[in-house]
Amino acid sequence: MRRKIVAGNWKMNKTPSEAVKLVEMLKPLVANEEVDVVFCVPAIDIIPVVEACKGSNIKVGAENMYYEESGAYTGEIAPAMLVDAGVEYVVLGHSERREYFGETDAMINKKVLKAIEHKITPILCCGETLEQREQGVTMDFIRQQVKIALQNVAAADAANVVIAYEPIWAIGTGKTATTEQAQEVCAEIRKCIAEVYDDATAAAIRIQYGGSVNAKTAPDLFAQADIDGGLVGGASLKEDFGAIVNYK
Ligand code: 13P
Repeated sequence: MRRKIVAGNWKMNKTPSEAVKLVEMLKPLVANEEVDVVFCVPAIDIIPVVEACKGSNIKVGAENMYYEESGAYTGEIAPAMLVDAGVEYVVLGHSERREYFGETDAMINKKVLKAIEHKITPILCCGETLEQREQGVTMDFIRQQVKIALQNVAAADAANVVIAYEPIWAIGTGKTATTEQAQEVCAEIRKCIAEVYDDATAAAIRIQYGGSVNAKTAPDLFAQADIDGGLVGGASLKEDFGAIVNYK
């Protein structure tokens, strides 16, 4: 049985002092031991958030990471820095990073490999645009994103990766994919993992849905056979996140 994982992606929100206040507010609301709860926060918030989460069930994630160990890469964050700060997860390949910061599948693959090397769990994002959905190429596009991102990743490591299916047209738009649409793509991703690896890896890998998840839509989405939780943007900054974590 796969354990559900509900992660908040704070994006570019909350200063360090605001971040600590938000953690204090949410801590009692997300105290659910049956679900993995992750707060993915801006780099500058990581240290105070790790401190504020001590003794709770909340794990801390980063929103990005570079694929080199160290060196002349002004403005980037190295995997060892995240590990030393207490980070256990990292969001990789979010559509906003692909769109605004030119991240390619090849770069994301390097980041996935690097995160695994440092024992940070990647939350690997994929998802189609509205145009691609209307053109009927959703599955082809997502298969390509997932296959390239996982190139040279061993089966045992792939089993621990979290994949987040986030249709771009559903992000921040208030337009959640229907449970059927979300389940259909997540099932296809699992099928793709079975083809690339094997049935056991496909059965183990956790696949989240993301895109306007809220307290109302979470229960149905998370009850789908191939949806193992969610990656939540806007609603992760509010009390609603407690209800999402306690979706049952
Ligand atoms: P929203 O929940 O705000 O639509 O954001 C989804 C997302 O991009 C999470 O990574």
